[in-house]
Amino acid sequence: MAHEILKGKKGIIFGALDERSIAWQTALKVHEAGGQIVLSNAPIALRMGKINELAEQCGNAPVIAADATSVEDLEKLLNESVDKLGGKLDFVLHSIGMSPNVRKEKPYTDTNYDFFQKTLDISALSLHKVLQSCMKLDALNEWASVVALSYIAAQRTFPGYNDMAEAKALMESIARSFGYHYGFAKKVRVNTVSQSPTVTTAGSGVSGFDAFFSYADKMSPLGNATSEDCANYCVSLFSDYTRMVTMQNLFHDGGFSNTGVSQPIIEEMIKAAEKG
Ligand SMILES: NC(=O)c1ccc[n+]([C@@H]2O[C@H](COP(=O)([O-])OP(=O)(O)OC[C@H]3O[C@@H](n4cnc5c(N)ncnc54)[C@H](O)[C@@H]3O)[C@@H](O)[C@H]2O)c1
Repeated sequence: MAHEILKGKKGIIFGALDERSIAWQTALKVHEAGGQIVLSNAPIALRMGKINELAEQCGNAPVIAADATSVEDLEKLLNESVDKLGGKLDFVLHSIGMSPNVRKEKPYTDTNYDFFQKTLDISALSLHKVLQSCMKLDALNEWASVVALSYIAAQRTFPGYNDMAEAKALMESIARSFGYHYGFAKKVRVNTVSQSPTVTTAGSGVSGFDAFFSYADKMSPLGNATSEDCANYCVSLFSDYTRMVTMQNLFHDGGFSNTGVSQPIIEEMIKAAEKG
């Protein structure tokens, strides 16, 4: 039986596409922890219809479409959410990412700049748009918590991650800058969670994903964090137990980010050298 550490709290979860989505797992955990939610995704993602299964499992949570690049959609979503949940919000999960360059397998050194701008708009500026819309509509309670998902390619180069690396770097910066302004204005906290590679639709779209999933698993003393682990971490960040944490990029990666090389990786290299 979960501890109801989100009892009485209300929020929006963006980005639940299917069971593998980090947002899907987070919605389930938030519900288990007593939180009330609205689920949102891009209109095209909602048309798949899967999200209604999740809504049912989360106490018939309202589902409201919003393209996260459209301020108009976001304002409508926020107004309707406050209305349906019966009060201002205490948490928001931004679990949104997409790169047309990655989808169309454009190499980083032959990028399509229209696609690049779409990547930045969908995967990074959307966080600014969510935060600015929340602030303008005064949709968040004091001490509310906003969490966005990131990846270590914001700090270090992973070749297959393409222009999503720039998107994550920009998104982490937006979390810091907006966290500053929203903190002083309303005590709202804003953080990013830098998650291990995770088998999801967005994750497996990155070229060479399987190889770097298993590399990260062998490099990390605790192994890769699953989407369920990530969901639990997000619940803790929405709760009052972490109320003084803001403007941080928090690594949730089993220790990957602080490991230079691991013994299992060294052994793999020795084995490969012996074979060669
Ligand atoms: N899977 C990984 O390996 C991994 C690792 C670290 C961070 N992340 C990040 O986690 C987040 C969630 O991704 P996921 O792995 O659960 O994959 P996912 O494909 O399940 O989720 C991505 C979501 O973004 C939504 N989206 C795309 N364009 C949108 C738009 N214009 N408006 C609103 N929503 C839109 C999609 O519909 C989808 O629900 C992303 O930010 C991703 O970059 C993923």
